Amino acid sequence: MSAAQLSYQIHGLAVLLSLILFVTRGIWMLQESPMLKARWVKISPHIIDTVLLVSALIASYLMFWRYGVNPNYVTVMMVGLLVYIAIGLVALRLGKTKAIRASAFVLAVLVFLYLSAVGIMKTPTPFLMPAAVASGVAQ
Ligand code: HEM
Repeated sequence: MSAAQLSYQIHGLAVLLSLILFVTRGIWMLQESPMLKARWVKISPHIIDTVLLVSALIASYLMFWRYGVNPNYVTVMMVGLLVYIAIGLVALRLGKTKAIRASAFVLAVLVFLYLSAVGIMKTPTPFLMPAAVASGVAQ
């Protein structure tokens, strides 16, 4: 396995762990659970999200940037990560009312799922039918 493949696989794994942890914390937030204050719950997202970002940067460098290429979808992922972090902060920390925190939580999960689809399909528009299929040239 090449270094590019390894960093890509680690990125995919960190993405999955990050989503599981974020959804779990969101549910605890809605239940007002004391679990949110547990030490490991406070620390592990930082570790996992750092792995997610560092592995993404290494994969992007090895696959694209060192050849002077930057696909659109990688830019979308970088901007999307910032958006996800901001909305996630509102959901788990900054939101003043439970309604605001709950809405931000749902929105953050949707942004995350969109970014996952972008990564898997390797396009900023993963839910659009490819033009060749839409026009009947390919199936
Ligand atoms: C919340 C943020 C992010 C999510 C949810 C996400 C999700 C994903 C997923 C699900 C994949 C496919 C992995 C697999 O099939 O094993 C992927 C691939 C990838 N991601 Fe991300 N990602 C995020 C942030 C980033 C960032 C910030 C960058 C760039 C700095 C990035 C760069 C990449 C690259 C280069 C690939 C490989 C695509 C290819 O094979 O061409 N991702 N991402």
